[in-house]
Amino acid sequence: MSHTPLIIGNWKLNPNTSAEAIALSAAIAKKHKQENVPLIALAPSFIHLAAVAPKLTKSSVALAAQDVSLHGPGAQTGEVSAAQLKDAGVTYVIVGHSERRAMGESDETVVAKVLMALKHKLTPVVCVGEHERDEQGNFFSYVEAQIVALAEALTPAQMKKLALAYEPIWAIGTGNTATVEDVKEMQLFIESVLTKRFDRATARKVRVLYGGSVKPHNAAELQADGGMNGFLVGGASLKAEDFITIIEHTKYHA
Ligand code: PGA
Repeated sequence: MSHTPLIIGNWKLNPNTSAEAIALSAAIAKKHKQENVPLIALAPSFIHLAAVAPKLTKSSVALAAQDVSLHGPGAQTGEVSAAQLKDAGVTYVIVGHSERRAMGESDETVVAKVLMALKHKLTPVVCVGEHERDEQGNFFSYVEAQIVALAEALTPAQMKKLALAYEPIWAIGTGNTATVEDVKEMQLFIESVLTKRFDRATARKVRVLYGGSVKPHNAAELQADGGMNGFLVGGASLKAEDFITIIEHTKYHA
């Protein structure tokens, strides 16, 4: 099933100042005039959400967060809750990014965060992806286990509300983008895992994004032939020109 593409700029731990975050978001919001096609969101760090939010209010660019606490309000030092994100104007939440999983985030935690986000009407964008590829194709089971952990905890209605971001770890920040064939194969694999766990209609409703060295020169191909419903963009989202070019190259294949 074809969705309107969704492109999220994951700024990670950038930039250093709120002035830079404001300038970058304003530049992107100004250039992205098209209403809704594709859907665009920016994910600054928590500290910059409030500075960036007003720059996006008059545009069709949404606000995203890079993580969410699995806890509600209370004695949870250093956490940022789903309710606080909602109140800050956030629409999408990245959950289970490999950089967070590398810090010890388990599938169990990812599931708890997804449920918390859904409870507060935030759209979770759940990252899955293997560390490396092997000739035997064992990496498929690795990705399957990450998806099954979600599928076991979520109802079909909940599953349909989230997006999955296939982000092979070896492709993140390396310039080694997955090939169109690899991406297409994984998209079909994810669909078959979801079909087995739920049903065909549910599987086809789950938006699948690709992330890992998405650049202006490879976005069009990855979306059109890779069967992706959009992208999670890291490095290239820090340059307004590059991010806008990725958006422009994507929308013509919507
Ligand atoms: P990258 O990051 O585009 O810099 O590879 C993608 C991501 O980590 O989401």
